[in-house]
Amino acid sequence: MGRLLAKWLAQVRFIIGALALMLIVAAASPATAQRNPDGSVNPTASSVKEEQLFKEMNRISGRCSIPDQKACTIEQPAGRDWREFHQITLPWIGAIAIIAMLALLVIFYLMRGMVKIENGRSGRLIVRFSAFERAIHWMTATCFVVLAITGLNITFGKQTLIPLLGPDAFATWSQWGKYAHNYLSFPFTIGVVTILLMWIANNIPNRVDLEWVKRGGGIVGNDHPPAYKFNAGQKGIYWIVVLGGGAVATSGYFLMFPFYATDIAGMQLAQIVHGCVAVLFVAAMLAHIYIGTIGMEGAFEAMAEGTVDENWAKQHHSLWLDEEKNKGPAGATPRATPAE
Ligand code: HEM
Repeated sequence: MGRLLAKWLAQVRFIIGALALMLIVAAASPATAQRNPDGSVNPTASSVKEEQLFKEMNRISGRCSIPDQKACTIEQPAGRDWREFHQITLPWIGAIAIIAMLALLVIFYLMRGMVKIENGRSGRLIVRFSAFERAIHWMTATCFVVLAITGLNITFGKQTLIPLLGPDAFATWSQWGKYAHNYLSFPFTIGVVTILLMWIANNIPNRVDLEWVKRGGGIVGNDHPPAYKFNAGQKGIYWIVVLGGGAVATSGYFLMFPFYATDIAGMQLAQIVHGCVAVLFVAAMLAHIYIGTIGMEGAFEAMAEGTVDENWAKQHHSLWLDEEKNKGPAGATPRATPAE
């Protein structure tokens, strides 16, 4: 009996000793983690611990008294990835896409210059766009420009404008920008849907487009491949507007009405889609604006006045001109300009 008790006591002593040892090691390790082997302070020790904590705990959340329980999660791994995207990746994608496009256009303009109407103006005008088509185009374009400026303000404003305007003026501008971004999204969406419907028949790709692309659209070099009302380049712009516009509108409404149709992961995805499509969309529209203004003589008036010179039409859209002429006076309405 005495031997048994002594053995039991020895076991208890062993367990207590082992526990005490573990306690000492555990208590000592944070202190040693702060120090290098030579005894100097390790400045990254605490951040290493934080990193481990993030990995082990997965999230930083607690209890809160407001009804929206999502607000009780302060940090979560996907949130950190998203923040990295929003603060670093998206601004890089945007800056590269937009600056590269601007640089390309400047180089192209310096090399090629404005594409002229080769045979000069004939003085005969042909109707290209109705008043309704032009109104829809300009409404959508105006909304797009304001949406682009106010959207890019969210992506780049903090870094670029706060140093210039100061925080107060930047906050006021951003608040108005945000209102504009929200409210102009509605006419923009109406514009994109109307563009989809009113021009889809002219934008289905066909064999003529293949030939047009093979011949570099005539703009690279001095060729004039035939085209119907819209050539392959314009069809590309049309589909960018319809599909890109559809994607920014859908993702944008997910962002504007948060958590109605999706969870936090869906919200983050919506912002990634919205941001990426938007900056690429802006870059594509810069090319569209270039070709419609300084890139090509006689193009702007098509959308400004609704008419183009017949020689312009012959050079860039010969098949369309034939179609319009074949319609006779009831279809196309070629008009003579007043003699000057
Ligand atoms: C129906 C159309 C659109 C809707 C509903 C919409 C909605 C939104 C919303 C709600 C936000 C988040 C704003 C915030 O964080 O407070 C946003 C951000 C943004 N939008 Fe739009 N938007 C639309 C169209 C556009 C267009 C056409 C562009 C550019 C061409 C654009 C570019 C941007 C950009 C760059 C951001 C910032 C993205 C970021 O930095 O994460 N949006 N948009």
